[in-house]
Amino acid sequence: MTSRPTTDLKIEPAAKLTGHYTPPPDKSIAHRALILAALASGRSMISPISRSADVGSTVACLRQLGVSIEAGKDGWVVDSPGANGWTSPERALDCGNSGTTMRLLSGCLAGRSFDSTLIGDESLSRRPMGRIAAPLRRMGAVIELSAGDAAPIHIKGSHLRGIEYRLPVASAQVKSAVLLAGLDARGEVIVIEPESTRDHTERMLSHAGVDCHGEAPPRPADPREQLLSDAQNGIATSAETYHRRITLGDKRNPRPIDWRLPGDFSAAAFFIAAAVGARRADLIIAGVGLNPTRTGFLKVLRRMGVEAEQSKDHSATGEPAGQIRIGAAKSLKAVHVTAAETPLLIDELPILAVLAARADGVSVIRGAAELRHKESDRIAAVTQNLRAMGAKVAELEDGWAIEGPTTWHGATIDPHGDHRIAMAFSVAALWADSPSIIQNAGVVGISDPDFFAALTALAR
Ligand code: S3P
Repeated sequence: MTSRPTTDLKIEPAAKLTGHYTPPPDKSIAHRALILAALASGRSMISPISRSADVGSTVACLRQLGVSIEAGKDGWVVDSPGANGWTSPERALDCGNSGTTMRLLSGCLAGRSFDSTLIGDESLSRRPMGRIAAPLRRMGAVIELSAGDAAPIHIKGSHLRGIEYRLPVASAQVKSAVLLAGLDARGEVIVIEPESTRDHTERMLSHAGVDCHGEAPPRPADPREQLLSDAQNGIATSAETYHRRITLGDKRNPRPIDWRLPGDFSAAAFFIAAAVGARRADLIIAGVGLNPTRTGFLKVLRRMGVEAEQSKDHSATGEPAGQIRIGAAKSLKAVHVTAAETPLLIDELPILAVLAARADGVSVIRGAAELRHKESDRIAAVTQNLRAMGAKVAELEDGWAIEGPTTWHGATIDPHGDHRIAMAFSVAALWADSPSIIQNAGVVGISDPDFFAALTALAR
């Protein structure tokens, strides 16, 4: 491997992966810590600093709203007048490549006393924004989208009312946009999640003193009662089932606090896969976030026969964190993944597909149509690059059927401007019979500018 991932990068095959890895701070949590610090009035601290370009977009937008964010020795120091003291931005707020920035900030801006416009790069300007505009409009927001229900997004600051909203897509970003707008709303705010999605917003709101709580559906004491009530209700019961009902109570002002960000499980997943698929590996990942709504990848790996040691050793501001130790898998079994679990490993599906091509048998990953709306069409991008490396893969509307094991050939990889595709195939390239080229490899900086340096060090 060369060390300057500015353009195309050559990756040499490597037989082993050993050492200690400390993932970068969690990107999802970093966005939220910055936003909650900016909503609160006073000084918050956030550590460690995230070098992700996406998180940089959130920092830049919040600064444009009049929030001071300084990089200190131990982390960011955020001084904010509080949401009601935010100033009207002079220019459009540029969210870059970051869907989280655009969707969460839209929620925060809907109830302000000024108007704002959010823009993004080419990829972000293609992604669906109708999914946040719909519930925010029901709350009284005035939002104008551009052609194709996409960005630029124009928001006219308005008074907001409460809402009871059942998420039509399993999306933590939509859930978060509604909850953040809900902080400004008059009246009850309830979000019903049919399936579990990452719950950082709820945990962090509550950690910052906001009355935000999630409840599972009430269970009848006697399962026969459920059967009886199902029978009485005809077949319509499934529409009433849900995973969680999240409510905002009366206390809706986040207070400034010190946030400690855990390591990013999604960044660690590439290294876990690199270890699992190596000929020899012993990898210790320290300080990694272990929130169960993020670690679905580990569960699926266990079904594939992977043994991973996991120990929780601390909680980083309301988020469980700990250590994972992982070695090379002696054998890997094919696996089936269905819609109910895809939200819990949504960002890990590209690397899971790569690993599935290393397993024995036909793996089927379905219920993942959301991947078509990410930074790239990840279903198509994974299919194209798996085929380039010699894997047998059928592209499905909502996932893949992948037959392994594959004899991996070095190839030229087109990440389609998508950091997670570049990373997934950099890992696959370690297993190939000849070097591979990752085009536009600098795109990994969207989430982890240190990715190649870390991979090189561990594979040496
Ligand atoms: C994120 C939620 C997920 C995920 C994205 C980050 C978040 O998106 O894919 O990388 O921080 O809330 P969706 O909510 O659109 O599924």
